[in-house]
Amino acid sequence: MSSESNYALLHNGQKMPLVGLGTWKSEAGQVKDAIKYALSVGYRHIDCATAYSNEAEVGEAFLETVGDDKIVKREELFVTSKLWNTKHHPEDVEPALKKSLDDLKLDFLDLYLMHWPHAFKRGDNLFPKNPDGTMRYDYIHYKETWKAMEKLVAKGLVKSIGLSNFNSHQIDDVISIASVKPAVLQVECHPYLAQNELIAHCNHRGLVVTAYSPLGSPDRMWKHPDEPVLLEETIIKKLAEKYSKSPAQLLLRWQVQRKVAVIPKSVTPARILQNFQVFDFSLTEEEMRSIGNLNKNWRYIVPMVMVDGKPVARDAGHPLYPFNEPY
Ligand code: A2P
Repeated sequence: MSSESNYALLHNGQKMPLVGLGTWKSEAGQVKDAIKYALSVGYRHIDCATAYSNEAEVGEAFLETVGDDKIVKREELFVTSKLWNTKHHPEDVEPALKKSLDDLKLDFLDLYLMHWPHAFKRGDNLFPKNPDGTMRYDYIHYKETWKAMEKLVAKGLVKSIGLSNFNSHQIDDVISIASVKPAVLQVECHPYLAQNELIAHCNHRGLVVTAYSPLGSPDRMWKHPDEPVLLEETIIKKLAEKYSKSPAQLLLRWQVQRKVAVIPKSVTPARILQNFQVFDFSLTEEEMRSIGNLNKNWRYIVPMVMVDGKPVARDAGHPLYPFNEPY
């Protein structure tokens, strides 16, 4: 990732490679090899989170590959992790980060994100539930959590801090009390959820946007049988054919060309490789627009829980749930 166009510049001068490897849903027994392969073909950005329950195995890959005498020097690598909803209490923030560092076998993170604006019941159970199956919420405000995250920067434990799944009002709310400004917003983003207003808002406020589920997350739980399938979209398939690229490469190219970072998840070597090969072609302005016109504000990722044998939105009852606003 040497060319100017292959990374985004964060407000503090840090360079974040525009293509990273996602690890959400990457299973134990697969994620270590996926990361080692990704690093061997040139990836320098790995996206992690406590909630993915695989950071210890990610750390095994880093232990073998990252270091002065190994295939990647630490300073060449950009690693992100995320503070989970059960660790929003200010006293829990540093221990949670240290647990991630310990698992990842790293001394510092390049970026630490608050995974969601809303909190769950404090403790070590990632998904604390009430007897009826609903989530046990907590009501610590994200502004308090943010102040604790700022201290991690002062201590040199993380280079940048940022937000994930926050809406525009919540971003401004954080900025209003921040001594360390959020550098990145990570949200679901792809042509069916183009996020144009939110991206413009972030750019105006100096945040870079990272798109999660840029391929429409075909391997996620809770799929609707009649939902639109992004990788099967006619315009995407046609453009892929025109450029002799795959539909996935088209989806990723559209994002990096508009300076949105992407973190496609894969545990398949051929896909890991092709997802990184998106800097050797470019789309015309009209093609960029026609892909953007596919927007239908379609959200694939709405976490669910089973209540009375039926799936219900897991977090929608929380007062800080982010997706009740238009953007
Ligand atoms: P796999 O991990 O088995 O290779 P997202 O990043 O949007 O969540 O999408 C991840 C899903 O997309 C996974 O099921 C992954 O499969 C699949 N995937 C990743 N890269 C490609 C690709 N280039 N073509 C088709 N499917 C892909």
